[in-house]
Amino acid sequence: MNRRIFFTTVLLAVLLCSLSCGCGAEKSSGQIQNVKIGVSVYRKDDTFVSSLCTDLENDAKAKETESGTKINLNIVESQSSQALQNDQVDSFLSGNYNVICVNMVDRTAAAVIVDKAKKENVPVIFFNREPVEEDLRMWSEAYYVGADAAQSCTLQGEIIQNAYRKDPRSIDRNGDGVIQYVILEGEQGHQDALLRTEYSVKKLVDSGLKVEKLADDTANWQRAQGAAKMTQWIQKFGKRIEVVLCNNDDMALGAIDAVRESPLKSNAPAVVGVDGTRPGLEAIRDGSMLGTVLNDASQQAKAIFDLSYSLACGKGVPGSVKLTSGHYVKIPYRIVTKENLAKYLS
Ligand code: GAL
Repeated sequence: MNRRIFFTTVLLAVLLCSLSCGCGAEKSSGQIQNVKIGVSVYRKDDTFVSSLCTDLENDAKAKETESGTKINLNIVESQSSQALQNDQVDSFLSGNYNVICVNMVDRTAAAVIVDKAKKENVPVIFFNREPVEEDLRMWSEAYYVGADAAQSCTLQGEIIQNAYRKDPRSIDRNGDGVIQYVILEGEQGHQDALLRTEYSVKKLVDSGLKVEKLADDTANWQRAQGAAKMTQWIQKFGKRIEVVLCNNDDMALGAIDAVRESPLKSNAPAVVGVDGTRPGLEAIRDGSMLGTVLNDASQQAKAIFDLSYSLACGKGVPGSVKLTSGHYVKIPYRIVTKENLAKYLS
């Protein structure tokens, strides 16, 4: 074979390969046919995070079928240990993963991960637990996909406000013109817990309602802890509790569990959550929860996946992903009550 024919054959082979690979992801070792996406989550038993992971897996399967590219989506959990999560990131980097997605255990500790990823030139996408802006800005290939926490609880306040407008006594049970409430907060230091707590009450006050806080405490996003706190509050405040504001659906379900076991069950307080998980939506259907605010796991997963795949293929940020300030994707929240529940249950 003369040199010309040889080079033409090689060129054709490379071209054919890049077409059949769908994604021409390239690392220094040359053309690869697999896209490797490493995902580390803070806990897998978190209802919202686990449903987001299921959506990610479905997105990867769909893309694999559509593109013919082999996608290795490896989801590991850090069991609430930042040290373990750092090790997981190290093994993704040494295992030549094309993109790394991280649901931080400690959202203030992202600088270490950005630094390592930058050194290896592997894009990193944080999600759900938002790093401080300074850390994200350390590198142009560091991104965050999540939602605007303040918006979620402005909407949560709106659910209460709408119900009050329709029928004040459905909220202000004792008719004293003041809404007595308790708040179940998420994990301390989490951006969603801080902002949701502030904005749900702010919305009520801004809309001219008089409110009185009876108690607030953290239940770390968890149903059992929510139930335990609510049981204590029912013993202390009894019928005075008119509204239970919850930073997520799991804690709202815990509060409902406690109400069901108490004398309040015949005239239960209004309970509102955030997330729109399946059990949360079922609670709206059976009337035990007044409403929730959809934290759109499926749209967040889609943004994480589309961004990962495109970056892995060396194609940059895809048109389907709208970045703000060069690093952020924030998916809007939506109110869910029994009026529009059917749309979300299906
Ligand atoms: C929040 C979500 C909570 C919990 C938490 C974990 O956005 O509402 O239910 O999943 O993230 O970081």
